[in-house]
Amino acid sequence: MSDLVQLTKDGEIAVITINNPPVNALSPGVPEGIKESVEASIQDDAVKGIVIIGGGRTFIAGADIKEFGKMTSGKKDRGVGFNPILKIVENCPKPIVAAIHGTAFGGGLETAMACHYRVAVPSALVGQPEVKLGIIPGAGGTQRLPRLAGVAVAAEMCAVGNPVPAPQAHEAGIVDKIIDGDLLEGAVAFARELVAAGKPPRKTCDQTDKISDQAANQKALAAVRDKVAKRARGLMAPGKAIDAVEAATKLPFEEGVAREQELFKECLHSDQSKAMIHVFFGERAVAKVPGIAKDHPKIEIKRAAVVGGGTMGGGITMNYANAGIPVLFKEISDEALEKGLSIIKKNYAATVSKGRLTQEQMDQRMALIEPTTSYDKFKEADIVVEAVFEEMALKKKVFAELEKVTRPDAILASNTSTLNIDEIASATSKPDYVIGHHFFSPANVMRVVEIVRGKQSSDTVIATSMAIAKKINKVGILVGNCRGFVGNRMFHCYQREAQFLLEEGARVEQVDKVLYDYGMAMGPLAVGDLAGLDVGWRIRKEYKHLEPEGIRQPLVVDQICEMGRFGQKTGAGWYKYEAGSRAPIPDPEVQKLIEETAAKAGIERREISDQEILERTLYALVNEGATILAEGIALRAVDIDMLYILGYGFPAQRGGPMWYADTVGLKNVYERVCEFEKQHGSLWAPSPLLKELAESGKTFADYDASKA
Ligand code: 3HC
Ligand code: NAI
Repeated sequence: MSDLVQLTKDGEIAVITINNPPVNALSPGVPEGIKESVEASIQDDAVKGIVIIGGGRTFIAGADIKEFGKMTSGKKDRGVGFNPILKIVENCPKPIVAAIHGTAFGGGLETAMACHYRVAVPSALVGQPEVKLGIIPGAGGTQRLPRLAGVAVAAEMCAVGNPVPAPQAHEAGIVDKIIDGDLLEGAVAFARELVAAGKPPRKTCDQTDKISDQAANQKALAAVRDKVAKRARGLMAPGKAIDAVEAATKLPFEEGVAREQELFKECLHSDQSKAMIHVFFGERAVAKVPGIAKDHPKIEIKRAAVVGGGTMGGGITMNYANAGIPVLFKEISDEALEKGLSIIKKNYAATVSKGRLTQEQMDQRMALIEPTTSYDKFKEADIVVEAVFEEMALKKKVFAELEKVTRPDAILASNTSTLNIDEIASATSKPDYVIGHHFFSPANVMRVVEIVRGKQSSDTVIATSMAIAKKINKVGILVGNCRGFVGNRMFHCYQREAQFLLEEGARVEQVDKVLYDYGMAMGPLAVGDLAGLDVGWRIRKEYKHLEPEGIRQPLVVDQICEMGRFGQKTGAGWYKYEAGSRAPIPDPEVQKLIEETAAKAGIERREISDQEILERTLYALVNEGATILAEGIALRAVDIDMLYILGYGFPAQRGGPMWYADTVGLKNVYERVCEFEKQHGSLWAPSPLLKELAESGKTFADYDASKA
């Protein structure tokens, strides 16, 4: 018997326990262990019923995702495959009960559905999240789930991929019984009852009552198709998942399983699934900081404080309250405090009205927020996040005050988006406790935080920052201290090229459409209008003295700002907007301004292809990203990828800018960058790291592997 699967007996009930920590994935050895255990139980006359359960914290969380890479690269011996093993489970002449706690995801739920009955603890989750990896269920999930739960529920679960809590799964017919006490005891008792009642095995594949109404099936499938067309733009797997569920309604079970296999393989071999699997592991990789062990001592954050209750401070305060951490919310006046609080309340109330939060939960969260205009209680705070105006002198004043009013072991974090963390830290005598926590707007929604390491930020402060990011449901990405840090420094290059392209002949809506069609949440110019063009305008004015002479700068944006066109908030920016609408309308006035400005500057206008727009904007990201990597400002290419996907609307199915460059081939990217340098000058000087990787036939993924 495999070490990963144990077979024991509780009287006449065989208990098969999967022990493959941490999540009991179906790694090599686990399916074989299940098969051998079921076969041994069939042979054993003393066994009358069987329970399959997960050891440790969960049932089976799915196939082993690491194995997919081996399958697509041909390195994996396919063995007998999982479907035939599930057939052995389903055909077992003795009743088999799956006992679910933690998560039964993907191949885990597929295993449970091949069993004859399913019981679960109330906290368990079941789901077919494969689409989040760019694939579809590949072990009968799309065939068995509609038979248990009906087509509407199954299509939604397979095409959207969200987990379903056990009580809901019970209502839907996926779970037969909720066990309130000890799961194993309850499952064994359930199996005994089946045996005592002489219940024969109940095969899911034989059930057809929930899939026989073809008119209802078509209606349900059309509704989910419509939903994913709107929400899963550019993704291949959701549509294929629905096709597979449709096959369950039209084909006999075995043929449906074969059709599912074809669709599964199409997805598995696509670039999309490779990119999305990179993203799955990327989210976990960025949590690991080389040189700081997982168990490095951390400061316990029992109470937080936020200074500055404007756009960002309000959102950051909500993040702490959402995680159940009491938080002081400080402003300069009662009026400012009231304004900040009313926005927080409005945000929560909107979530309540959408049914995603109860009034009681909202009240609990509001009760955790303590508004104040003084530093009186700051001695209680374990961490302070500063979010006052973006002015160095003010930040330094606030940090000097904070040192006096907090305990010596309190972390002092700044949400600055552009200022030098070391200079801010110099206003205190404890720079080792100072760090950047750069949240993205809206801070209560966006899932990423750049954790900006100052020269002297201590390992404990870094480790605590990464842990608190996770606690407040964010992905913390550790970056170095430089102007714009990683995200905005790269984004500056991307937006710069978008604007140069306008001067050279592209139209505003053309540039945005190319990047939107590529999969970006919004085009670069529309993003400028959303964020407010005045923000960058003010920063450019403040830093003008630092700009090197003789370097080409975009010429139009500052003129647009001088016209009072700050973007959506003023009803006009790169586009114009009708009152109360966010829909961008191309504006001939802006087009005229661009053409006149280009003529004055002697820029020759020409037809710009969509391909050039894509390459100029994306390779600008990649080239700067490579420089940032070589400088050690980003730890790994995957950190940049995750930052872009979570913070800048970069499409997950492209894997992030650095992964995308790998898929294009770094030699190709490098050659285009060299051409752009010839055409456009030193802004396009290729990063030495890009050159080195391209010339040695390597990838950014290889670079990351060398850092591991
Ligand atoms: N395969 C391989 N490794 C996995 C894995 C899987 N299915 N699921 C999790 N892991 C690894 C993680 O990479 C992580 O490794 P690390 O510690 O080295 O970074 C470790 O297990 C713990 O995972 P998390 O940090 O994510 O732990 P959480 O407790 O936060 O979350 C979870 C647990 C909810 C199970 C989450 O890991 C998860 O959602 N996993 C993926 C589930 C999934 O997508 N299943 C479907 C797989 S595809 C499939 O089954 C195809 C089938 O149809 C044939
Ligand atoms: P904001 O102008 O909306 O809010 C700043 C608030 O700070 C104001 O309400 C002001 O009254 C308050 N304040 C000023 N001095 C204070 C003091 N001594 N004590 C308490 N409160 C004080 O500004 P916003 O947009 O929230 O920006 C705050 C910080 O977040 C800045 O450093 C900015 O660069 C950064 N940031 C902003 C992003 C954005 O999109 N707005 C994104 C990421 C970071």
